[in-house]
Amino acid sequence: MSDLSRRNVLSLGVALGLVGAASVAPAWGATQTGSAADPWWVWDDEIDRIMAGVLESGQVPAVNTAMRSWVDNNDPLPGGLPADLAGYLQRVNELPSWADPAKLRRAADFNRRKDTYLFMLYGLGSGIMSTVIPREAKSVYWSAGGADMRDRAAKTFTFGYDLSDLNAFEPDGQFVVTANKTRLVHAAVRHLLPRSAHWKSVADERIPISNGDILVTFHSLGTFVHRKLREWKVPMSAADEEAFLHMWQVAIHLLGVREEFIPKTWAAAHTQSAQVLTPILSPSHEGKELAEDLLGLTAQIDLGVTRGFLNEFVRYVLSDAIGDWLGLRRDYASAALIRTAWPAYIAFREGLIPVMPAGFYMFDQMVRALAMLFLDKGTSPTTTLITIPTGNRPG
Ligand code: HEM
Repeated sequence: MSDLSRRNVLSLGVALGLVGAASVAPAWGATQTGSAADPWWVWDDEIDRIMAGVLESGQVPAVNTAMRSWVDNNDPLPGGLPADLAGYLQRVNELPSWADPAKLRRAADFNRRKDTYLFMLYGLGSGIMSTVIPREAKSVYWSAGGADMRDRAAKTFTFGYDLSDLNAFEPDGQFVVTANKTRLVHAAVRHLLPRSAHWKSVADERIPISNGDILVTFHSLGTFVHRKLREWKVPMSAADEEAFLHMWQVAIHLLGVREEFIPKTWAAAHTQSAQVLTPILSPSHEGKELAEDLLGLTAQIDLGVTRGFLNEFVRYVLSDAIGDWLGLRRDYASAALIRTAWPAYIAFREGLIPVMPAGFYMFDQMVRALAMLFLDKGTSPTTTLITIPTGNRPG
């Protein structure tokens, strides 16, 4: 265990609600299924090879242009793609055989019903947590997109927006295409980052975005949100919870995670998260800058709350340990308000208490402003603008 003592990890895990009871169970499905593969050493071989070729032969701009018209799940593949890439996409651009349309529809409805909490948790929880996942923070910082966080945030919103859309997985939805474009971007990054002197000087020797890395990020998104919704006592039926997990299982499958590693239940996901996410959280120079960029961007829109309040909300969802790592200035009055008013806000919204609590409108405005930012995706709401990078961040 590198940066943190075991005790710190445990208390951080408890604060984040990430320490599961069954922490002795094996972390990966691999161990449970008897497979010898280690997800930290599994990437996405076929598309990695194809994208290396596309990059080396200077075809990325042409591929990006061709992909512009490829948006809806039922759009035909665009013409003008290299034959091997077209053949590959023809095979993978569909839902897995085990995808359950009824569960995916329920997940979409769940996303709509709980969107208030999802905006807050993905935006101010997962988004900022990504900056203390060192391999992710360093990769994001030193890839081309790290130089323009506004643009990168908009692209990431595209993924979240398309995933949460009511039609996400339907023929006229967009998520399957968006996930495949992301898979191509990741494959390009695996080729590019190991050629960045900056990235090499701060990262370990492993190629980035392994199956293990993607699972860690999934836990900072889906698993974390599930845990917090439970902790906040947001009413959810068992079918809702199962549907939300299923949506994420399909999503990470589309990003290239092998089935044997994908957690089958929330219990397995929380166990895996406690083993592979919590212990690796730690601050880095890159992560601190990214967090400041992200919170700076958020503070630029009128959330109706001060930057101190925003800092404290991040501390509230992610723990003071992470707030301290990121140097988030304290605002004790806001901290006290959040601790009492946020649970009351949830209880009132969910019809669990009859009287509107103090601070209701303040939270409501904050959620609305975050929602607007998300729904605008920073740009045109109709275009999926995920593009394959041609190089790394210059310096
Ligand atoms: C790009 C989502 C895991 C590093 C992207 C993009 C999306 C995305 C939507 C395209 C938008 C953009 O270019 O910014 C996800 C999701 C993940 C995941 C949903 C897991 C559930 C990871 C992991 C890493 C990573 C584990 C690193 C360890 C990157 C980098 C880019 C990228 C470096 C390229 C940014 C650029 O253009 O320079 N990801 N990602 N991602 N992702 Fe991921």
